[in-house]
Amino acid sequence: MNQIIKGFSKLTREEKIKVLKTHFQLPENFSEILEAYRHPSQQELFDDFSENTLSNFYLPFGVAPNFLIDDKMYAVPMVVEESSVVAAASRAASFWAKHGGFKTTIHNTLKKGHIWFRWDGPKSFFSEMPKELEESLRKTVAPLTANMETRGGGIRSMEIISLDGEYGIFQLQVAFETVDSMGANFINSCLEEMKEPLREFFNTHQDFKQYGNMQIIMAILSNYTTDCLVTTTVKCPIEALSAFSAGMAPAEFAQRFKQATDIALADTSRAVTHNKGIFNGTDAVVIATGNDFRAAEAAGHAWAAREGFYRSLSSCEITEDDSFKMELTIPLALGTVGGLTRLHPMAALALEMLGNPTASELMGIAAAAGLANNFSAVASLVTTGIQKGHMKLHLSNLLKSFNASDEEKEAAIDYFKDKTVSAVAVKEFLRQAEQK
Ligand code: MEV
Repeated sequence: MNQIIKGFSKLTREEKIKVLKTHFQLPENFSEILEAYRHPSQQELFDDFSENTLSNFYLPFGVAPNFLIDDKMYAVPMVVEESSVVAAASRAASFWAKHGGFKTTIHNTLKKGHIWFRWDGPKSFFSEMPKELEESLRKTVAPLTANMETRGGGIRSMEIISLDGEYGIFQLQVAFETVDSMGANFINSCLEEMKEPLREFFNTHQDFKQYGNMQIIMAILSNYTTDCLVTTTVKCPIEALSAFSAGMAPAEFAQRFKQATDIALADTSRAVTHNKGIFNGTDAVVIATGNDFRAAEAAGHAWAAREGFYRSLSSCEITEDDSFKMELTIPLALGTVGGLTRLHPMAALALEMLGNPTASELMGIAAAAGLANNFSAVASLVTTGIQKGHMKLHLSNLLKSFNASDEEKEAAIDYFKDKTVSAVAVKEFLRQAEQK
């Protein structure tokens, strides 16, 4: 029977576990496993990040050193569960550090939010934002924006726009500068405060009122942060690529690399995987610093499809001076204060490791990590393939899981140098080694 569990959130942790055990077939040691991953001293803090918390879910906190970004060296913290992402980032970072590093440009750091409403009046009313309305909205949120203004942020502009093709649906679009915070709470609070004065303006001013009642539909920030854009580039002489070309002539490697990147610009199936390789790096930094990776992903993918066709976020160029150049432009609305960034001890530590960057600096760091992973992935794809690197780590994980001794590990690494790694093959190798 599919029974509804009532009042689950009100139960204590122990009661929740008991209820789960009565409703589902769970392993005998369910409670023990949950208990084993609880934090000895900080559990209350972690419990408060979410709801119905039973335990913690560990992910590796790694670091990719040697990231030279805008002439400053960083050891970049990365939280990711996929083996070889940190290794790939580190390898690319060391290479590019020898060739001038990553150069970043922050195009803008504005975020937008909307109050959506229904109104049956003409669109032509809003070629300009009514001054009186803007003043009244700004006044309403002044207690909220005062603090942000002292930090150099606040509301930058307001406009009313009608929804394309939809008669009677409008948005009040507000552009916010949130400085070093991602600002989601700030933006949503401002928008929600503005709902009532906006409604009142439409429903009391005769010019507007004559078209009937205006109804607010909703107020929310937009995660399509196309005004929070960062570009990162790398450039080196083609000859230098021999470090990555696995024996292939650097010029041929560069050509293949460019073709692979052009394919990702022209074909959506490939572009999604190509961009996934970029997010391997950016997400790992976004998560490590306590930022919202779902927001970053949603914005990035929408940006990749901005021309009505989903394509690669990065591009590659072989320049006239025989240089190899790569470029990535990505929307990344990140924060270095507020939200989880300072509450989660590991996120706070990650930011300290990065020298407590500004939000703009962090955008550059996350973008560089994305380009580094992208470069490594495509370099492998056009040479040895990615399985070689993956298999090394897979073998090491298998040997660990089979409790192989150091001696057995060494022999296995040598044996599997030119053979396919699988759990069965490794088990068999260890069985035979034991019999010798
Ligand atoms: C694997 O996590 C990422 C890659 O598939 C990216 C790519 O294909 O470019 C290797």
